[in-house]
Amino acid sequence: MSDTTTISFANLKVPEEGVVTILAEEGPKLSPAAKDLDKSSKGLLSRAIDITNFKGKKESAVDLLAPAGLGFARLILAGVGKTSNYSREDWVNLGGLARGRLTGKESPVAHIVLQTASGDLSPIDIADFALGLGLRGYKFEKYKTKKKNSGSGDSGRTLKKIVIHCADPRAATKAFSRGRAVLEGVTLARDLVNEPANILGPVEFAARTKDLTKDGVQVEVLTPKALERLGMNALLAVGQGSSRPSHVAVMQWRGAGPKGGDPIVFVGKGVTFDTGGISLKPAAGMEDMKGDMAGAACVVGLMHELAARKAKVNAIGIIGLVENMPSGAAQRPGDVVASMSGQTIEVLNTDAEGRMVLADCLWYAQNRFKPKALINLATLTGAVMVALGKEHAGLFSNNEELSNWLVAAGNETGERLWRLPLGAKYDKMIDSKVADMKNTGGKWGGSISAAQFLQRFIKDGTAWAHLDIAGTGLASPESEINRSWGSGFGVRLLDQLVHDHYERA
Ligand code: BES
Ligand code: MN
Ligand code: ZN
Repeated sequence: MSDTTTISFANLKVPEEGVVTILAEEGPKLSPAAKDLDKSSKGLLSRAIDITNFKGKKESAVDLLAPAGLGFARLILAGVGKTSNYSREDWVNLGGLARGRLTGKESPVAHIVLQTASGDLSPIDIADFALGLGLRGYKFEKYKTKKKNSGSGDSGRTLKKIVIHCADPRAATKAFSRGRAVLEGVTLARDLVNEPANILGPVEFAARTKDLTKDGVQVEVLTPKALERLGMNALLAVGQGSSRPSHVAVMQWRGAGPKGGDPIVFVGKGVTFDTGGISLKPAAGMEDMKGDMAGAACVVGLMHELAARKAKVNAIGIIGLVENMPSGAAQRPGDVVASMSGQTIEVLNTDAEGRMVLADCLWYAQNRFKPKALINLATLTGAVMVALGKEHAGLFSNNEELSNWLVAAGNETGERLWRLPLGAKYDKMIDSKVADMKNTGGKWGGSISAAQFLQRFIKDGTAWAHLDIAGTGLASPESEINRSWGSGFGVRLLDQLVHDHYERA
């Protein structure tokens, strides 16, 4: 579960207790605080720098355990390279790097003196650093009955608090209020993605969204009966093979009030487990399909985040929650279903289920909310990983402005997007002989034909973007700010988008 380590801010000084991290820029050039410490410790740092040939390069560090004559349990002189050309992402990553060195083994308290040779950091830089600390601290260990802190050996000790020392702790605290919300949102998304599917099915996931009412989010859960009445037959067809009933959750945050106008709507694919259905997936790696709800998890994390920081935006989250199972009640290849839009779908492959879930959710979103922008997130295709690996999510959009804004938010946060094409010739790939469309487009360009399928449910005039997060939402590579299987991808990205373009001043 989430990191229980608290993060707080205090005045600039080097407290002689616990684990202390101080910074050195390339050279090494010590921060004023580090210089003072070097003096008062009669050249302890200078000697250590000399012996280890420390140059202050990023990712390098001099690590001193219980230095004699000082109160510290451990003293870390951390190289930061050249901070003058740091991006926001660099500060977040530096926080992650710093958190990675802290285990809690030597002391439950850690102090980080955030000052460089070039001077004091801005409150934004400090807030970004703190976000990195928190993101890196995340662990999902709720099912481990022994050694709660496996990262720190079997000492049973954990890190309780981190104090960041900086020039203006009040300004840093204020700047980090958004970061704290983001951290909570990402943590929630990661928790949901990491949860196994026996614990988190459509019913349980829907119940979890009700927690957001505490934040001031209005939550409705549509039951199978309601979905039938609405005509969401494409979504229901996917879930019909499961004994766990399908649901749709609708979350409304009206932070901009009536004057804020039409909302921005986020739609998430929430397949709580994807066996492929009758078009069954191979056994190897199928366990990963517990994460086939990463899109929905992101939407829930984002809605929490926006509400937690009282964002001045009208935002709606809609998630389609189903389990894709093979059974005597499951849909068959060749079945034809009528979607809520009235368009019919020939189900050629029951493993192309995400697009059927989204089709009805997207239609419902437009009918009910007239969104000024409609953004969906889905672990939609394995093909997007073939194209982009795990470093970019696929972006498809019918709107240049929205597309550019999303790419920019991706570069700002490090949750990167790469735009892929849409077009009439690709659209032709999903024409069907027996129905309006088929749910697969053949061998090539699988991510694109999936996106074309979604676009058939987008009305003219709706600004829409589809993010295929199959490569970025789950089974994530280790990074400075993430050691979790479920990355929580999209929360930071969309927080940035909302912040930059959809919030009322
Ligand atoms: N959930 C999968 C896509 C996926 C694969 C997500 C790996 C995360 C990791 C999706 O429902 C799926 O099965 N897509 C098929 C589509 C095909 C049948 C047209 C795929 O990508 O193979
Ligand atoms: Mn599938
Ligand atoms: Zn799927």
